[in-house]
Amino acid sequence: MVSGKRILLIVTGGIAAYKSLDLVRRLRQGGASVRAILTKGGAEFITPLSLAAISGEKVYGDLFSLTDESEMGHIRLSRQADLVVVAPATADFIAKMAMGLADDLASTALLATDKDVLIAPAMNEKMWQHPATRQNMAALEGRGVLSVGPGAGDLACGEEGWGRMAEVPEIIEAIGAYFSTGAPLSGRRALVTSGPTIEAIDPVRFISNRSSGKQGHAIAQALARLGAETTLIAGPVSEPDPAGVDVVHIETAADMLSACEEALPVDVAVCAAAVSDWRVKNPATRKIKKSPPGQKGGKKGEKPPVIALEENPDILARLSAPGNMRPALVIGFAAETEDCVDNAKAKLVAKGCDWIVANDVSAETGILGGDDNTVHLIIGSVVESWPKMSKQAVAERLATRIRDHLAGPP
Ligand code: CTP
Repeated sequence: MVSGKRILLIVTGGIAAYKSLDLVRRLRQGGASVRAILTKGGAEFITPLSLAAISGEKVYGDLFSLTDESEMGHIRLSRQADLVVVAPATADFIAKMAMGLADDLASTALLATDKDVLIAPAMNEKMWQHPATRQNMAALEGRGVLSVGPGAGDLACGEEGWGRMAEVPEIIEAIGAYFSTGAPLSGRRALVTSGPTIEAIDPVRFISNRSSGKQGHAIAQALARLGAETTLIAGPVSEPDPAGVDVVHIETAADMLSACEEALPVDVAVCAAAVSDWRVKNPATRKIKKSPPGQKGGKKGEKPPVIALEENPDILARLSAPGNMRPALVIGFAAETEDCVDNAKAKLVAKGCDWIVANDVSAETGILGGDDNTVHLIIGSVVESWPKMSKQAVAERLATRIRDHLAGPP
């Protein structure tokens, strides 16, 4: 599984660093080559000499080493690998990664790399559970950083709980899975809608909704990582454009529909956007004033303007409609605040899509704008309820299901 692969291993300063030696040994036994960067902290636990002896390669450690930079600069070091693995990844190093700091060779190589990164966190349980670490992990997950572990058990600090670095065979398995997954959706085309749409009332006001785009963007990223040529049609959100995805930014539902139609044909369409159901019939071309022209200030008792609405096109229903451009698999989302599964089942039928992902978005769930999601995947009359997980994890699981469904030659 790892044979012929080049791994750049970053060893940071945790007691679990001793396991990294075994990790290198087993990776090499499996036919991989390993080049290692040992941070200053890491070198407090294991020596560069032992790492060099086991990897059979020079070990790198100093960003400002002129000899190293002339032999193999940090940019080349980070690019001449098929995968970057950080094991152990301490809380401090995870925070550095989340911040994008670059004050040593390891962090600089990570900023410079164009390869995927897999981390094996290792720390005390309280540190792992700390909101700062949770936030840092969510940021990394959001950027597509893969992780393995940590597991539960005896910790080096004498306490017990979550925080133990994953065992070496688990890390090898995660690395193997990464390479064996390869690009199973290569040759396939995917379309994802995400975020809200906004509909103008006048040049400064609009109707919209609270969608953050986190779930849709994560799905686009997950599909692209599986090798699908992915187009993301995104409403206005603060999420960054996912890497490796062709992003079309739109504002209105009408623009989202035309962008979707332009992206066809695709093998799979995932409509995760919260499309505004209505738009303003005649949006004003000038800002609507409280008082009539020529009259200063608002007059007490003046009636607020009446805004006439008309229905927007239903993009999911259009994409699901029979025809030779219909994607082989069309997936809708159902954001509900009550009778989640029943309403979603009714939407599946009404819109004619193949699968629907239902989620309860009542304010108390914190799903709107939050990093976690609790969803039900509905296929026909079968309802699969997934446990609460990060939006990133929902995206990966859904992408895996799509991969399985589309398995076979394009
Ligand atoms: N959808 C769409 N175009 C619309 C409205 C919704 O493509 N004009 C899609 C959404 O992207 C989602 C699904 O339809 O995949 C369901 O959206 P949702 O807002 O939950 O349902 P609505 O159809 O808007 O129904 P309601 O607002 O009554 O719940």
